[in-house]
Amino acid sequence: MSSRTVIRGGLVITASDEIHADVLIEDGRVAALAATGTPAAEAFTAENVIDASGKYVIPGGVDGHTHMEMPFGGTYAADTFETGTRAAAWGGTTTVVDFAIQSVGHSLREGLDAWHAKAEGNCAIDYGFHMIVSDVNQETLKEMDLLVEEGVTSFKQFMAYPGVFYSDDGQILRAMQRAAENGGLIMMHAENGIAIDVLVEQALARGETDPRFHGEVRKALLEAEATHRAIRLAQVAGAPLYVVHVSATEAVAELTRARDEGLPVFGETCPQYLFLSTDNLAEPDFEGAKYVCSTPLRPKEHQAALWRGLRTNDLQVVSTDHCPFCFSGQKELGRGDFSRIPNGMPGVENRMDLLHQAVVDGHIGRRRWIEIACATPARMFGLYPKKGTIAPGADADIVVYDPHTEQVISAETHHMNVDYSAYEGRRITGRVETVLSRGEPVVTEREYTGRKGHGAYTPRATCQYLT
Ligand code: URP
Ligand code: ZN
Ligand code: ZN
Ligand code: ZN
Repeated sequence: MSSRTVIRGGLVITASDEIHADVLIEDGRVAALAATGTPAAEAFTAENVIDASGKYVIPGGVDGHTHMEMPFGGTYAADTFETGTRAAAWGGTTTVVDFAIQSVGHSLREGLDAWHAKAEGNCAIDYGFHMIVSDVNQETLKEMDLLVEEGVTSFKQFMAYPGVFYSDDGQILRAMQRAAENGGLIMMHAENGIAIDVLVEQALARGETDPRFHGEVRKALLEAEATHRAIRLAQVAGAPLYVVHVSATEAVAELTRARDEGLPVFGETCPQYLFLSTDNLAEPDFEGAKYVCSTPLRPKEHQAALWRGLRTNDLQVVSTDHCPFCFSGQKELGRGDFSRIPNGMPGVENRMDLLHQAVVDGHIGRRRWIEIACATPARMFGLYPKKGTIAPGADADIVVYDPHTEQVISAETHHMNVDYSAYEGRRITGRVETVLSRGEPVVTEREYTGRKGHGAYTPRATCQYLT
């Protein structure tokens, strides 16, 4: 039995177009679009009609960087796949690509199987996986080929966190060489972790234990240095490179220079770097711990370079790096020693709204909003045009967005499983109203109508951004 829905009268916005159009959905996919009021649109008939007059009709967000239930610093990120994907849907995101983790001494396969087990049957929206490679050896390199074939087409490596996820330059080069052959995309956490560990030790020895010192030891120059090194290693390997969570002006400059040279390097930033700063890290009474993540928040002056990078396409993607730890009981593990504060911040529910606010504030245009939050992450991670756009044949992952209603972000009202909001009290113009995932209503006029298990694992093609 076929099921049909029509979304009438909204302004359909994709990365490339804005048109007043009705959208016909059949069996979970976009069947057709037609200009509102035309005979073609009037001919759309469906049992479900969604009135989107005065609203935007946008592709569901694609968040290419989340960490549900991630083990870190002796605890676990507080959102499960169930709670985290539900919160994502509330915020207008309909696909997440999360990170499966290989632990040292184990295979990629074991890590991937473990993450499938966590996610399967629990997600409200569709999901895929990247693979964190913590242990590069002959076996892992072979496994990378197999993973690419089955739809895990990107691999994160860390130049930070020695003794945990860290890879040295030789391991990085080998993985990049493999990726150059098998079509995989290396995603780099670019911070010089060896140098940072020295600075951490010295800071603690001086009695500098507050959260703000997390920002001071993880220097912008050490992000820029690692970004530079990652770019050159990728160049030597002949591989494309995607640098995650870029926060420093100096790191953006490295990406800009490499792109001007014609290298296939890409950069992602996150809302926390665009909207928050070291002022937050310096909040008294240990409140700064709420904002501890790596790369760290930077002084406010860095924000301009990030916005400029997003406008000039030196940065291509905004993901959340959603990795929430409760203030109570989790962030508190680092009282008296900032290096023990679990790294990560909540945000999967806030990204689409914060970026809409950036449209309202004039940092980016509407189509660029959709490009950096939906279309480009889908293309970067091999999900396009199934995800990231509204076009015939695409999955009907669609958000009806009210661009006029104001909301105030708060932990009191958010749906993430974490006891604080990094954006508490912030006013946003705009609000998600209805969310469809493959045509099924997940949020209906601000009521949750989704279900755990609707979200399906989505294997991915290789990076489509260069083709
Ligand atoms: O602080 C962060 N970003 N936590 C999550 C892990 C990572 O490095 O992305
Ligand atoms: Zn094992
Ligand atoms: Zn990272
Ligand atoms: Zn991350």
